[in-house]
Amino acid sequence: MVKQPRLYALVPCAGTGERAASGQPKQYAPLAGQAMVAHTLAALARVPRLTATLVVLAPLDTQFAAHVPGFGGERAWAVACGGATRAASVAQGLVELQRRGAGAKDWVLVHDAARCLLRAEWVDRLIDACADDTVGGLLALPVADTVKQAEAGRSVRTLPRSDKWAAQTPQMFRLGLLQQALANAGDAVTDEASAVEALGHAPLLVRGELENFKITWPAELALAERLLHSRNRSEIA
Ligand code: C5P
Repeated sequence: MVKQPRLYALVPCAGTGERAASGQPKQYAPLAGQAMVAHTLAALARVPRLTATLVVLAPLDTQFAAHVPGFGGERAWAVACGGATRAASVAQGLVELQRRGAGAKDWVLVHDAARCLLRAEWVDRLIDACADDTVGGLLALPVADTVKQAEAGRSVRTLPRSDKWAAQTPQMFRLGLLQQALANAGDAVTDEASAVEALGHAPLLVRGELENFKITWPAELALAERLLHSRNRSEIA
Protein backbone atom coordinates (compact mmCIF):
# COMPACT_ATOMS: atom_id res chain seq x y z
CA MET A 1 0.00 0.00 0.00
CA VAL A 2 1.48 3.35 -1.09
CA LYS A 3 1.63 6.01 1.60
CA GLN A 4 -0.31 9.11 0.49
CA PRO A 5 0.37 11.76 -0.52
CA ARG A 6 3.60 11.06 -2.34
CA LEU A 7 6.30 13.63 -3.06
CA TYR A 8 7.88 14.14 -6.47
CA ALA A 9 10.61 16.48 -7.63
CA LEU A 10 10.21 18.07 -11.05
CA VAL A 11 13.28 19.71 -12.58
CA PRO A 12 12.65 21.92 -15.63
CA CYS A 13 15.83 21.50 -17.63
CA ALA A 14 14.73 22.61 -21.08
CA GLY A 15 16.15 26.14 -21.15
CA THR A 16 18.68 27.40 -23.63
CA GLY A 17 20.59 29.47 -21.08
CA GLU A 18 21.53 32.25 -23.47
CA ARG A 19 22.20 34.73 -20.66
CA ALA A 20 24.99 32.61 -19.16
CA ALA A 21 26.87 32.89 -22.49
CA SER A 22 28.59 29.56 -21.95
CA GLY A 23 27.93 28.51 -25.55
CA GLN A 24 25.56 25.72 -24.52
CA PRO A 25 22.43 25.28 -22.40
CA LYS A 26 23.59 26.43 -18.98
CA GLN A 27 22.38 23.28 -17.20
CA TYR A 28 25.19 21.44 -18.99
CA ALA A 29 27.93 23.93 -18.22
CA PRO A 30 30.92 22.19 -16.61
CA LEU A 31 31.14 22.83 -12.90
CA ALA A 32 33.66 21.22 -10.56
CA GLY A 33 34.08 18.22 -12.84
CA GLN A 34 30.43 17.59 -13.66
CA ALA A 35 27.61 19.24 -15.59
CA MET A 36 25.63 21.75 -13.52
CA VAL A 37 22.46 19.66 -13.56
CA ALA A 38 24.35 16.59 -12.30
CA HIS A 39 25.00 18.45 -9.03
CA THR A 40 21.32 19.43 -8.79
CA LEU A 41 20.15 15.85 -9.32
CA ALA A 42 22.69 14.44 -6.87
CA ALA A 43 21.23 16.69 -4.15
CA LEU A 44 17.66 15.59 -4.92
CA ALA A 45 18.75 11.94 -4.93
CA ARG A 46 19.79 12.44 -1.30
CA VAL A 47 16.18 13.17 -0.25
CA PRO A 48 14.72 9.74 0.56
CA ARG A 49 11.17 11.05 0.93
CA LEU A 50 11.00 11.82 -2.80
CA THR A 51 9.24 9.01 -4.65
CA ALA A 52 10.97 10.06 -7.89
CA THR A 53 12.59 12.99 -9.67
CA LEU A 54 11.38 13.88 -13.16
CA VAL A 55 13.73 15.90 -15.35
CA VAL A 56 12.02 17.78 -18.17
CA LEU A 57 14.34 18.07 -21.16
CA ALA A 58 14.01 20.06 -24.38
CA PRO A 59 12.42 17.95 -27.14
CA LEU A 60 15.67 17.99 -29.13
CA ASP A 61 18.00 17.50 -26.17
CA THR A 62 20.96 15.35 -27.12
CA GLN A 63 23.22 16.05 -24.15
CA PHE A 64 21.53 14.92 -20.95
CA ALA A 65 22.43 11.23 -21.13
CA ALA A 66 26.09 12.02 -21.75
CA HIS A 67 26.25 14.61 -18.97
CA VAL A 68 24.37 12.62 -16.35
CA PRO A 69 25.28 9.00 -17.08
CA GLY A 70 23.57 6.56 -14.81
CA PHE A 71 20.48 8.71 -14.28
CA GLY A 72 17.59 6.30 -14.58
CA GLY A 73 15.69 3.59 -12.75
CA GLU A 74 12.69 3.67 -10.45
CA ARG A 75 13.37 7.05 -8.87
CA ALA A 76 15.05 8.94 -11.71
CA TRP A 77 13.05 9.83 -14.80
CA ALA A 78 14.11 12.03 -17.74
CA VAL A 79 11.60 12.91 -20.43
CA ALA A 80 12.05 15.20 -23.44
CA CYS A 81 8.72 16.99 -23.09
CA GLY A 82 9.86 20.58 -22.43
CA GLY A 83 8.04 23.62 -23.79
CA ALA A 84 8.97 27.08 -25.01
CA THR A 85 8.89 28.62 -21.53
CA ARG A 86 9.71 27.42 -18.04
CA ALA A 87 5.99 27.38 -17.16
CA ALA A 88 5.22 25.26 -20.24
CA SER A 89 8.00 22.83 -19.34
CA VAL A 90 6.62 22.46 -15.81
CA ALA A 91 3.06 22.00 -17.09
CA GLN A 92 4.24 19.26 -19.47
CA GLY A 93 6.15 17.65 -16.63
CA LEU A 94 3.00 17.50 -14.51
CA VAL A 95 1.20 15.64 -17.32
CA GLU A 96 4.11 13.19 -17.43
CA LEU A 97 3.96 12.67 -13.65
CA GLN A 98 0.26 11.86 -13.93
CA ARG A 99 0.99 9.42 -16.73
CA ARG A 100 3.39 7.70 -14.34
CA GLY A 101 0.82 7.41 -11.57
CA ALA A 102 0.96 10.68 -9.62
CA GLY A 103 -2.37 11.93 -8.32
CA ALA A 104 -3.88 15.40 -7.81
CA LYS A 105 -3.15 15.32 -4.06
CA ASP A 106 0.49 14.33 -4.44
CA TRP A 107 3.07 17.03 -3.79
CA VAL A 108 5.36 18.26 -6.56
CA LEU A 109 8.59 20.09 -5.69
CA VAL A 110 9.63 22.10 -8.72
CA HIS A 111 13.33 22.93 -8.68
CA ASP A 112 15.43 24.85 -11.20
CA ALA A 113 18.23 22.81 -12.77
CA ALA A 114 20.29 26.00 -12.46
CA ARG A 115 20.14 26.03 -8.62
CA CYS A 116 22.81 23.39 -8.44
CA LEU A 117 24.18 24.15 -4.95
CA LEU A 118 21.01 22.71 -3.41
CA ARG A 119 21.42 20.63 -0.26
CA ALA A 120 19.09 17.81 0.77
CA GLU A 121 18.58 19.38 4.21
CA TRP A 122 17.04 22.51 2.63
CA VAL A 123 14.60 20.31 0.68
CA ASP A 124 13.73 18.53 3.92
CA ARG A 125 13.14 21.90 5.59
CA LEU A 126 10.64 22.85 2.88
CA ILE A 127 8.86 19.50 3.05
CA ASP A 128 8.59 19.66 6.86
CA ALA A 129 7.16 23.20 6.70
CA CYS A 130 4.64 22.52 3.94
CA ALA A 131 3.52 18.92 4.44
CA ASP A 132 0.49 19.96 6.55
CA ASP A 133 -0.16 23.25 4.76
CA THR A 134 -3.32 23.72 2.72
CA VAL A 135 -1.54 25.66 -0.06
CA GLY A 136 2.16 24.70 -0.12
CA GLY A 137 5.15 26.99 -0.24
CA LEU A 138 8.62 27.83 -1.43
CA LEU A 139 12.13 28.49 -0.26
CA ALA A 140 12.80 32.22 -0.30
CA LEU A 141 15.02 34.83 1.33
CA PRO A 142 14.08 38.19 2.84
CA VAL A 143 15.58 40.91 0.64
CA ALA A 144 18.58 42.41 2.46
CA ASP A 145 19.66 45.06 -0.05
CA THR A 146 17.89 48.38 -0.47
CA VAL A 147 15.75 47.98 -3.57
CA LYS A 148 15.77 50.62 -6.29
CA GLN A 149 13.31 51.25 -9.06
CA ALA A 150 15.24 51.95 -12.26
CA GLU A 151 14.43 54.06 -15.27
CA ALA A 152 16.94 54.30 -18.11
CA GLY A 153 19.74 53.06 -15.88
CA ARG A 154 19.07 55.58 -13.08
CA SER A 155 17.55 55.04 -9.68
CA VAL A 156 14.28 56.97 -9.52
CA ARG A 157 12.70 55.47 -6.41
CA THR A 158 13.52 53.37 -3.36
CA LEU A 159 11.03 50.62 -2.62
CA PRO A 160 10.10 49.42 0.87
CA ARG A 161 11.94 46.14 1.42
CA SER A 162 10.62 44.91 4.78
CA ASP A 163 7.86 42.92 3.07
CA LYS A 164 9.95 41.70 0.14
CA TRP A 165 11.34 38.20 -0.30
CA ALA A 166 13.37 36.79 -3.17
CA ALA A 167 11.84 33.54 -4.40
CA GLN A 168 14.01 30.44 -4.76
CA THR A 169 13.19 26.84 -5.51
CA PRO A 170 12.13 24.15 -4.70
CA GLN A 171 8.52 25.32 -4.73
CA MET A 172 6.16 22.71 -3.34
CA PHE A 173 2.49 22.46 -4.33
CA ARG A 174 -0.07 19.73 -4.80
CA LEU A 175 -0.13 18.52 -8.39
CA GLY A 176 -3.81 19.34 -8.91
CA LEU A 177 -3.53 22.90 -7.60
CA LEU A 178 -0.36 23.55 -9.58
CA GLN A 179 -1.89 22.27 -12.78
CA GLN A 180 -4.92 24.49 -12.32
CA ALA A 181 -2.71 27.46 -11.46
CA LEU A 182 -0.46 27.09 -14.51
CA ALA A 183 -3.42 26.62 -16.84
CA ASN A 184 -4.92 29.82 -15.43
CA ALA A 185 -1.72 31.88 -15.41
CA GLY A 186 -0.38 31.05 -18.86
CA ASP A 187 3.22 30.95 -20.01
CA ALA A 188 4.51 34.25 -18.67
CA VAL A 189 4.94 33.31 -14.99
CA THR A 190 8.53 32.80 -13.91
CA ASP A 191 7.74 30.63 -10.90
CA GLU A 192 5.02 28.33 -9.64
CA ALA A 193 4.17 30.47 -6.62
CA SER A 194 3.10 33.41 -8.78
CA ALA A 195 0.67 31.16 -10.64
CA VAL A 196 -0.73 29.89 -7.32
CA GLU A 197 -1.00 33.49 -6.01
CA ALA A 198 -3.03 34.41 -9.10
CA LEU A 199 -5.67 31.91 -7.94
CA GLY A 200 -5.95 33.86 -4.67
CA HIS A 201 -3.79 31.60 -2.50
CA ALA A 202 -0.85 32.69 -0.35
CA PRO A 203 2.05 30.21 -0.50
CA LEU A 204 4.14 29.75 2.64
CA LEU A 205 7.54 31.48 2.60
CA VAL A 206 10.13 29.09 4.04
CA ARG A 207 13.55 30.54 4.73
CA GLY A 208 16.05 29.44 2.09
CA GLU A 209 19.81 29.91 1.90
CA LEU A 210 22.05 32.43 0.16
CA GLU A 211 23.96 29.53 -1.42
CA ASN A 212 20.81 28.34 -3.15
CA PHE A 213 21.19 30.99 -5.86
CA LYS A 214 20.29 30.46 -9.49
CA ILE A 215 23.10 30.52 -12.02
CA THR A 216 22.32 32.94 -14.80
CA TRP A 217 25.51 34.85 -15.51
CA PRO A 218 29.13 33.66 -16.00
CA ALA A 219 30.18 35.28 -12.72
CA GLU A 220 27.67 33.09 -10.84
CA LEU A 221 29.06 30.03 -12.55
CA ALA A 222 32.53 30.96 -11.30
CA LEU A 223 31.21 31.54 -7.76
CA ALA A 224 29.40 28.19 -7.77
CA GLU A 225 32.61 26.51 -8.89
CA ARG A 226 34.51 28.01 -5.96
CA LEU A 227 31.82 27.02 -3.47
CA LEU A 228 31.67 23.44 -4.75
CA HIS A 229 35.44 23.12 -4.53
CA SER A 230 35.45 24.37 -0.96
CA ARG A 231 32.61 21.97 -0.07
CA ASN A 232 34.60 19.10 -1.57
CA ARG A 233 37.67 20.13 0.40
CA SER A 234 35.76 20.28 3.68
CA GLU A 235 34.17 16.88 2.96
CA ILE A 236 37.59 15.33 2.33
CA ALA A 237 39.14 16.97 5.41
O1 C5P B 1 16.15 30.75 -17.82
P1 C5P B 1 15.81 30.56 -16.39
O2 C5P B 1 17.01 30.72 -15.49
O3 C5P B 1 14.66 31.34 -15.91
O4 C5P B 1 15.39 29.02 -16.25
C1 C5P B 1 15.01 28.46 -15.03
C2 C5P B 1 14.86 26.96 -15.20
O5 C5P B 1 13.81 26.66 -16.10
C3 C5P B 1 16.12 26.29 -15.74
O6 C5P B 1 16.33 25.08 -15.02
C4 C5P B 1 15.78 26.05 -17.21
O7 C5P B 1 16.45 24.93 -17.78
C5 C5P B 1 14.28 25.80 -17.14
N1 C5P B 1 13.57 26.10 -18.39
C6 C5P B 1 12.81 25.10 -19.01
N2 C5P B 1 12.15 25.35 -20.19
C7 C5P B 1 12.26 26.55 -20.80
C8 C5P B 1 13.01 27.59 -20.18
C9 C5P B 1 13.65 27.34 -18.97
O8 C5P B 1 12.73 23.99 -18.49
N3 C5P B 1 11.65 26.72 -21.98
